[in-house]
Amino acid sequence: MNKAITVSISISLLAMTVSCKDHKQEQTAQVAIPAPTSSLPEKDEMTPEQKRLKEGNKRLGWVMQDLDIPEYKLDKLHKNGELMTESYIKYAIEIVKVAKTAKAVDHPDEKLTYFKNEMLAALAKYEEAFQAKDTEKIKTTWTTLKNACSACHKEYRTSSGGY
Ligand code: HEC
Repeated sequence: MNKAITVSISISLLAMTVSCKDHKQEQTAQVAIPAPTSSLPEKDEMTPEQKRLKEGNKRLGWVMQDLDIPEYKLDKLHKNGELMTESYIKYAIEIVKVAKTAKAVDHPDEKLTYFKNEMLAALAKYEEAFQAKDTEKIKTTWTTLKNACSACHKEYRTSSGGY
């Protein structure tokens, strides 16, 4: 075989090995995500930390379920430019009320708690804009809030793919 070809083949093989390795490292990095509740042992065999994780996941899940409808409605109203309508006000009050309950969720994962606090900070800004009836600020703070939701989902929401 031509020497130049051999060299080029070895280089591409090397490149493949390197990119494979990179991919593996990415996968290992994801293991930082807390164990899903389903992989935990039975309740009476759990360590206090595992119990805290289970309880934290459960309570966070409850908050998330109640965010589903107001988030969906508000997204639609934003898309249609129907801000501060009767319906908008109803769902904005609801999302603020529900999302605030995330504050009381005790979760052992520090990174998750960081994302939670970022969301609560964005929520406070959104609430402020909403109370001031400042539609321009409502738009920008809504976007920031949604980004804060997605930041956590990207890392922790395993079901339904996240957004
Ligand atoms: C601290 C992390 C975190 C933040 C912040 C967060 N979420 Fe979630 N969310 C999750 C996790 C984890 C799940 C998956 C829960 C499950 O499947 O039990 C989830 C699931 C959901 C679901 C699906 C719930 C269901 O069971 O049908 C909705 C809707 C949702 N989130 C909306 C939001 C909205 C809106 C915000 C921002 C206001 C938000 N989330 C912020 C972590 C977060």
